Amino acid sequence: MSQSAHPPLANSGIERKWWHTATIYQVYPRSFCDSTGDGVGDLPGIIERLDYLQALGITVIWLSPIFVSPMDDNGYDISDYQDIAPEFGTLADFDRLVAEARKRGIGILLDLVVNHTSDEHPWFIEARRSKDSPFRNYYIWRKPDPDGGPPNDLTSSFGGAAWTLEPQSGEYYLHLFSRRQPDLNWENPEVRDAIYQMMNWWLDRGIAGFRMDVIDLIGKQVDARITTDGPHLHDYLQEMNRKTFGNRDVLTVGEAWSATPGSALLYSGRRRGELSMVFQFEHVTQSWDEVYGKWRPKPIDLVKLKSVLGKWQHALADDGWNSLFWGNHDLPRAVSRYGNTSGYHVESAKMLATVLHLMKGTPFIYQGEEIGMTNVPFTSIEQYKDIETLNMHRLHVEAGRSPEQFIHGANQSGRDNARTPMQWSAAPHGGFTTGSPWIEANPNYPTLNVESQVTDDRSIWNHYRRLIALRKQHQVIVYGQYQSWFDQHPDVLVYTRTLDDDRLIVIANFTSRDVTITVPNELQLCGSCLVSNYPFVDDISEELKLRPYEAFALLCNPAE
Ligand code: GLC
Repeated sequence: MSQSAHPPLANSGIERKWWHTATIYQVYPRSFCDSTGDGVGDLPGIIERLDYLQALGITVIWLSPIFVSPMDDNGYDISDYQDIAPEFGTLADFDRLVAEARKRGIGILLDLVVNHTSDEHPWFIEARRSKDSPFRNYYIWRKPDPDGGPPNDLTSSFGGAAWTLEPQSGEYYLHLFSRRQPDLNWENPEVRDAIYQMMNWWLDRGIAGFRMDVIDLIGKQVDARITTDGPHLHDYLQEMNRKTFGNRDVLTVGEAWSATPGSALLYSGRRRGELSMVFQFEHVTQSWDEVYGKWRPKPIDLVKLKSVLGKWQHALADDGWNSLFWGNHDLPRAVSRYGNTSGYHVESAKMLATVLHLMKGTPFIYQGEEIGMTNVPFTSIEQYKDIETLNMHRLHVEAGRSPEQFIHGANQSGRDNARTPMQWSAAPHGGFTTGSPWIEANPNYPTLNVESQVTDDRSIWNHYRRLIALRKQHQVIVYGQYQSWFDQHPDVLVYTRTLDDDRLIVIANFTSRDVTITVPNELQLCGSCLVSNYPFVDDISEELKLRPYEAFALLCNPAE
């Protein structure tokens, strides 16, 4: 990872940053690699796999939370921000991870979960003790509604009310997630200062930056029922920037489910002094059901998907910066959601990677995506571990709805699809652990694993490796101007990227059928093939026949 400042590009206002050419790899530590045999992944396990990640070519590892936590939400409920959860290792292991990663040109991004803490955090333990506690105002307390119920009808993302009564004081506290994740009161300057101190403590340890959990929630104003994009959200981020990472050359990415192209420019605009980029979900949520959300996802409508992807490419073309992703630890497996795991697993996984990695922005790979890991075929609720899935199942059954239907939805969209053990080899449990894993491995590990792919030049893994390398070699992939083609075509996705005399053309078939398109003259299909998921046939004619899930990229320089 180069930390040096680059001169601005001649033909664009964007100042070059090292993270513009970076590819980020997300590790979910619990499920990545277990070095002790206790069934839970850990930091020494990640260190063992750094050579693997270096071979893939990634520049940054985003570590999902590794801090001390009762693990109600697998670490997104922190009880000590400045120590490592014992099941993951020690601070010494962490320092070793940073040092060993740096030797391989890899930076470590920490997951900053500061919208809420765990209910076991000393601040909350103190705060709940009495109304007079010096820490009371670290959290958000309200008197009951006159009828004795919660102060208002805000709901938790994990189901049910966002308020829990604290019997001793007779007041309710707010939790936008589980009741064991009380929301911090960002209006209190003491809270903000404590968080900034903690951030600086980690920055001093040499990390490459932060991924910021549900950062769009920190400006909430509960009495007005405002949760996302509160009036002081951007003031807080500017203050955080000034007091912590602003003068350090690090990467910051804010998770923001509510982000629009407009707000993304506020978060990531180059004169705003806030974040490097936001992680926004419009391409994900556009295919959710209006009533049941992700639990009843709709089939992918490619015209809609293209319009959302294109909208973001254009909106952040000259200012701000995009993050690019298909999946993470909260989402289903990319190839299961957008590809085809029955007949075209390899082709469709490579197609999805091609389309995403050649867009403008910083690509994120979620662990296992690089080998095309798939959703789980769990049949019983006992196999699921995720708090959200378990809560939603309970509410679903209590409402008298069919448990089978719930499992069907969870198989498609539940968060555990992404959380099964990393499939390293055909050894028991995919080689993730020598013990018994905290969650069952996907039964397809004997055939779908890292070991069988790294040595196979035609594997999904090697396709990802090529795409990552291309971004480092070709400025047009990093900075080229984006233009979409065939916007109304229901089956193919086509775009070009242009920088100076270079022109990149990306063409992808999103279906399991042959599709023929008539190439317009203006598209000027020419050049050499940079990457493709079928043996490339070099007879491009006006009538272009694409094979199932075929995707390729051509680079041409019409001036040559
Ligand atoms: C974010 C995390 C998710 C977590 C939630 C609460 O959305 O990605 O895993 O449950 O925040 O911290």
